[in-house]
Amino acid sequence: MKALTYEKAHELDAFAITLTEVAEPRLRDGDLLVEVRAIGINPGETAIRRTRSAEPGGRLVLGWEFAGVVAAAGPAATGFAAGDRVMGTGDFTRDGSWAERVAVDHRVVAKIPDRLAFTDAASLPIGVLTAWESLFRDQDVLPPGVGRVLVLGGAGGVGSMATQLLKARTPAFVISTASRPESRKWATAMGADLVVDHRGDLAGQLRAAGVDHVDLVFSTSGTSSHLAAIVEVLRPFGHLAPIDLAGPLDLGALTDKSLSLHSEMVFSKIVAGGDVASQGRILARAADDVAAGRLRPIVTTTLDGLTAETMKTAHTLAESGRTIGKTVIRVTG
Ligand SMILES: NC(=O)c1ccc[n+]([C@@H]2O[C@H](COP(=O)([O-])OP(=O)(O)OC[C@H]3O[C@@H](n4cnc5c(N)ncnc54)[C@H](OP(=O)(O)O)[C@@H]3O)[C@@H](O)[C@H]2O)c1
Repeated sequence: MKALTYEKAHELDAFAITLTEVAEPRLRDGDLLVEVRAIGINPGETAIRRTRSAEPGGRLVLGWEFAGVVAAAGPAATGFAAGDRVMGTGDFTRDGSWAERVAVDHRVVAKIPDRLAFTDAASLPIGVLTAWESLFRDQDVLPPGVGRVLVLGGAGGVGSMATQLLKARTPAFVISTASRPESRKWATAMGADLVVDHRGDLAGQLRAAGVDHVDLVFSTSGTSSHLAAIVEVLRPFGHLAPIDLAGPLDLGALTDKSLSLHSEMVFSKIVAGGDVASQGRILARAADDVAAGRLRPIVTTTLDGLTAETMKTAHTLAESGRTIGKTVIRVTG
């Protein structure tokens, strides 16, 4: 089959992902073999491209957000049959879905509604799971006493899903941040009750809108640079849920207000252990929400074809830091 592969970690200006012939994926007992129809693109995958190399003589296939059709199921992959339309993530230590077919643990997959386009479905899994686990942890509810939430990066892939999930599933007042007219408009369309600019004085903008504090900050971008402002706007014993912690964070800054830190890595359950099947259940609930009109897919850019050119374009968009919603590649041929 064909897959987009590379060997050595590289920068965007030396883009080296190419379409190559690779062996068919080997199924584990609990795996589904999925014919990939659409791929969601994430900034995290561009970071992996920049930093992860294959073993000598090997090659890497990235991409852990897809929609497609089940072609076969391993003996322990219960609940699915050939022909099912599905969406899912995967395991970022295994080959991913930038390929014609992917082998994926059935516990991180869910069926999708009949009328949902594959491109729309591919815009959901990573944002839904990351936002859900950050906000609702392993209890499926916001922490007690959380009524006001600030979503930093409200127009991005994960921020868009966070705002929508909060409005669909909780009574929380949601403040999103966006810095441009088009991203402000999108953040409002996602359901934000108030939109402020993350390039300006956050506390000042909140005060001007009559908001003296928030209970939880869900921070998707620039967490370390926003840390002083985050601490300023949170109430004592409030909660910080960041998803972009790549370097050190000054935890001392959190102690004056006794703030809690809720870390999240969307592959923790499948890599480190935990209730892996909960991710399939969360995705199934999101699929129900989409079917019922409570949640909308967030694809804003669709690129056609599994080619090195579309993937380079997708990486260029992802690395711009200005994505609104989600870039998706439609896999054809
Ligand atoms: N921990 C995990 O499991 C996990 C899972 C998924 C993603 N992530 C990480 O989470 C981050 C966000 O992912 P994503 O898919 O939502 O990214 P994205 O779609 O590329 O986010 C783009 C958005 O970020 C906003 N933004 C840019 N700079 C910002 C800043 N300094 N402060 C606040 N907002 C800013 C932009 O808004 P404006 O254009 O309005 O400025 C834009 O709308 C990435 O670093 C990604 O790697 C982590």
